Amino acid sequence: MMPMKRTVLKGLLAVLLHLCLLENNLVRARPTGAPVESYPEICNTLTPGHGIPASVSESPYSIIVANETYKPGVDFTVTINTDSGSPGLKGIFLQMHEAVTHEIIGSWSVMDSGNFKTVSCNEQNDSAVTHQNSVVKPSTNTFTWTPPDMGGPDIYVAATFVQTHQTFWVNVTSLIIPDDPCSGNACMNGATCVPDADGGNYTCTCSDGFAGPMCNLDDPCIDNMCMNGTTCVPDADGGNYTCTCPEGFTGPMCNLEVDPCLSNECSNNATCVPGTGEIMYTCTCAEGFTGALCDVEEGGDAVTTPAATTAQGSILTYNFQLAVSALWLVVIINKVILA
Ligand SMILES: *[C@@H]1O[C@H](CO)[C@@H](O)[C@H](O)[C@H]1NC(C)=O
Ligand SMILES: *[C@@H]1O[C@H](CO)[C@@H](O)[C@H](O)[C@H]1NC(C)=O
Ligand SMILES: *[C@@H]1O[C@H](CO)[C@@H](O)[C@H](O)[C@H]1NC(C)=O
Ligand SMILES: *[C@@H]1O[C@H](CO)[C@@H](O)[C@H](O)[C@H]1NC(C)=O
Ligand SMILES: *[C@@H]1O[C@H](CO)[C@@H](O)[C@H](O)[C@H]1NC(C)=O
Ligand SMILES: *[C@@H]1O[C@H](CO)[C@@H](O)[C@H](O)[C@H]1NC(C)=O
Ligand SMILES: *[C@@H]1O[C@H](CO)[C@@H](O)[C@H](O)[C@H]1NC(C)=O
Repeated sequence: MMPMKRTVLKGLLAVLLHLCLLENNLVRARPTGAPVESYPEICNTLTPGHGIPASVSESPYSIIVANETYKPGVDFTVTINTDSGSPGLKGIFLQMHEAVTHEIIGSWSVMDSGNFKTVSCNEQNDSAVTHQNSVVKPSTNTFTWTPPDMGGPDIYVAATFVQTHQTFWVNVTSLIIPDDPCSGNACMNGATCVPDADGGNYTCTCSDGFAGPMCNLDDPCIDNMCMNGTTCVPDADGGNYTCTCPEGFTGPMCNLEVDPCLSNECSNNATCVPGTGEIMYTCTCAEGFTGALCDVEEGGDAVTTPAATTAQGSILTYNFQLAVSALWLVVIINKVILA
């Protein structure tokens, strides 16, 4: 009987002792940083085992990132600032997360190794930063995060800040930080890489003498055949060019003059005379007719033509459809003419 009783008692004591230790373990402030070995859950919850809820007020400690974007493999600086007038920061637990999967990403290094150290979460070396002691930290603390060399998921900084054992903030996050679409860009020959408006990719702006999506081709306009003050525009693929003709010229090389009278809307046997400047042509009316298109019988009403029906005051809208060469071209010109 006795030995058995003693065993039960011993067992009870052991359980009590264990509970005490466990309690102690949970409640004790951690002057030496987040206990990732004995309490690995903190890696995923960011919640210290203080046994009391986190503060819901706004954190007086802010996360400042040096750049709006990051480049794979290039060190990225994260600064933790204490708002002026606020009690100092004692403890920290800092990670970088992938924005979509929320997985911990990259590795950290600390500059102030007297106050901070890196720890390993989820078997990733140096994947989090924590404090080394319980003294109040400087109001500005800088850490370096190194992204993986490959891939560029959107990321954010997540931190737990401890002011006192009772007062701490869990999972304070930065804005989302996308990778720089121009990192590792393929623009060549001194081209400028310009991120697209949505930040998803980039466009190469070629330096003089080069063309193509990557600016890897010689500018086809260097030796172009465009004529008559034409603007030569390299094609998108950089393989060839297009001549953008000035007014009055047409054809692939802009070497053909447009005859505006080839297709005119002068009526009633009027004579078409090519115009200058804004005026494409004018109609010289046969006897007995008047109006810009000679479609008005002198002393009579307008003879209906499609153009005349669009007349508004003295401004007529003409649609000229001009077939210059049956081989390659039909030009439609919309023109407003002051009659
Ligand atoms: C931290 O906050 C982010 C953004 O608010 C959220 O998506 C994430 O799940 C949170 N993480 C934890 C561990 O609570
Ligand atoms: C961050 O921005 C600074 C200047 O704004 C620049 O010099 C530096 O290269 C950038 N760093 C990264 C990693 O993009
Ligand atoms: C993590 O660090 C340990 C000890 O320094 C080292 O042996 C191990 O190779 C490292 N693991 C990785 C994935 O770098
Ligand atoms: C990004 O743009 C470059 C240059 O135009 C192109 O070669 C590349 O395929 C694009 N990448 C994606 C993921 O769309
Ligand atoms: C336009 O080009 C043609 C063909 O080369 C040429 O005969 C004509 O004089 C040029 N006209 C002007 C205004 O440059
Ligand atoms: C390039 O474009 C010009 C003008 O359109 C054309 O005359 C020439 O034949 C083209 N060259 C090639 C190689 O396609
Ligand atoms: C145009 O002139 C011809 C003769 O040159 C004539 O036969 C015809 O009726 C005239 N048309 C109009 C609309 O006046």
